[in-house]
Amino acid sequence: MPKLKMPANLPDPIINENAKIVLKRRYQKKDAEGIVYETTKELFWRVASAIAEEEGKYKNSSCKPASLARDFYDLMTSYRFLPNSPTLMNAGTDIGQLAACFVLPVEDDIEGIFDAVKHAAMIHKSGGGTGFSFSRLRAKDSVVGSTGGVASGPLSFLKIFNCATEQIKQGGTRRGANMGILRVDHPDIMEFIKAKERDGDLNNFNLSIALTETFMKAVEKKEDYDLVAPNSGETVGTLNAREVFNILVQKAWESGDPGIVFLDRINRDNPTPKLGEIESTNPCGEQPLLPYEACNLGSINLGKCYAKGRNGKDSEVDWDELKRIVHLSVRFLDNVIDASQYPLEQITRMVETNRKIGLGVMGWADLLYQLKIPYNSQTAVDLAERVMKFVHDESRSASKILAAERGAFPAYPESTFGEANLGPYRNATTTTIAPTGTLSIIGGCSSGVEPLFALSFVRNVMDNDKLVETNPFFEQAVKDVDAYSGKLMEEIAKVGSIRKMDHLPEELRKIFVTSMDIEPIWHLKMQAAFQKFTDNAVSKTVNLPASATKEDIWDIYWKAYEYGCKGVTVYRDGSKTSQVLCTGDGD
Ligand code: CDP
Repeated sequence: MPKLKMPANLPDPIINENAKIVLKRRYQKKDAEGIVYETTKELFWRVASAIAEEEGKYKNSSCKPASLARDFYDLMTSYRFLPNSPTLMNAGTDIGQLAACFVLPVEDDIEGIFDAVKHAAMIHKSGGGTGFSFSRLRAKDSVVGSTGGVASGPLSFLKIFNCATEQIKQGGTRRGANMGILRVDHPDIMEFIKAKERDGDLNNFNLSIALTETFMKAVEKKEDYDLVAPNSGETVGTLNAREVFNILVQKAWESGDPGIVFLDRINRDNPTPKLGEIESTNPCGEQPLLPYEACNLGSINLGKCYAKGRNGKDSEVDWDELKRIVHLSVRFLDNVIDASQYPLEQITRMVETNRKIGLGVMGWADLLYQLKIPYNSQTAVDLAERVMKFVHDESRSASKILAAERGAFPAYPESTFGEANLGPYRNATTTTIAPTGTLSIIGGCSSGVEPLFALSFVRNVMDNDKLVETNPFFEQAVKDVDAYSGKLMEEIAKVGSIRKMDHLPEELRKIFVTSMDIEPIWHLKMQAAFQKFTDNAVSKTVNLPASATKEDIWDIYWKAYEYGCKGVTVYRDGSKTSQVLCTGDGD
């Protein structure tokens, strides 16, 4: 439990109505009867003080724990920055596991497989999500040496992981989430691609196919490629790359699964190749990690980094404020590594060796609304690059300052930074763009770098709670043009978008675009712009209308490769029976 005393003059946080529900349900502490006994002020102080106390052990630190705790409190309660959910839930408690992202190895033997199931259960219980590559498992029907029998293959084991997650979810604070990855050259790839074709199958998994450069070249040339047995390294068959890609696209069109990740590209950016190869990402795809590695994330709310220009008229990004937030956030996230307790010794060792953190952004659409820049414009894409380059450069400079105070991450000498004499840095990676599914509700902002799903909509959260949300910048803008009426908002909540509302001013319709109004190409251009200056990856879903064709998805998957993305996920409206976000009446 934190020792720093709460200052008497600490202001109460201002919490929006939706956040109140979420915080109470999942984040504030409860007694054995399930009665909430922690106030939101105590919650944010618990987190701020627990993370600031870590500062005390660094003799050369430029900050004092007490004043740092206050800075962290202000940073969070002004919603300029929020750490990932496990940090908010567990910092300063007995659980103390603060990271959202884990990758576990799945070895090709029964003991290894069930170790991974057990370890995943431990991680889910603490609020973390797990990613696995199933690529090391021998193919279905291949021989099992010890028994002379035949192997059941990656997919049958995946079902066990899924089932275990299902059970843990009932006791945990949030649904356990998993990523399952298989290399495209694994002999069971076709079965894996089709694994989620029935709605509800493997419901606790996102699936992604790890595509290699060799495969992508073969798709381009319509050539065959080799399937390789992971246990023997032998070529056991060939498939036509173009046909596999087409089926992949077909399945993604049907249900959104599987997504794709570009494995070679991810490994090209692996800062510590000598420690191993990256085989998987975390559940939402934004954090590639080595086996047994974990990473804590945090997100800056860009909507709060808007400033009126010096002339009082033009609006711009408040760069000085953004710089201040980045530096404070990097210190926060580095301290989280020290404050966190991991469920396995191997994880503690890996985390302490690389000290990866993932600072990202949310509220991007909100910032664009304030700047009056349409999301689907080159101006927005150019600004995305500028903003993320700034965040990235400043995060690196903050990591350098920390290295001077506390030392470089232990693997630094053998890392790509060390070999190129670039550092020393405190962290092997500093930037990741997370989906911010719950953080954006708490912060009352648009999520990650996504456009708004709808200007006004009904959000389904946890156990059928329904929250109505209208974007505040939109509400204000409508008031400004004097077109506001309750009836209008009702109308908008039904369809989400104002694109077809001819009676509204054209400028308003251009600026206040939603994900469905935006051509897929702009989703991708935006993802690529942020990826260019992000160490890890960018969580982004290319949302498509129900009318989108397979060719549209083909094009998106291919362009994601061409544009330098590390992966991509698509979602065609209505292609799953249960959606997290929906317009209309929320059913
Ligand atoms: O907003 P919040 O911090 O709750 O999470 P997010 O940004 O939506 O997701 C970040 C990461 O948290 C995901 O990629 C997963 O690794 C993990 N996560 C999870 O384990 N279980 C969930 N239900 C949601 C997220």
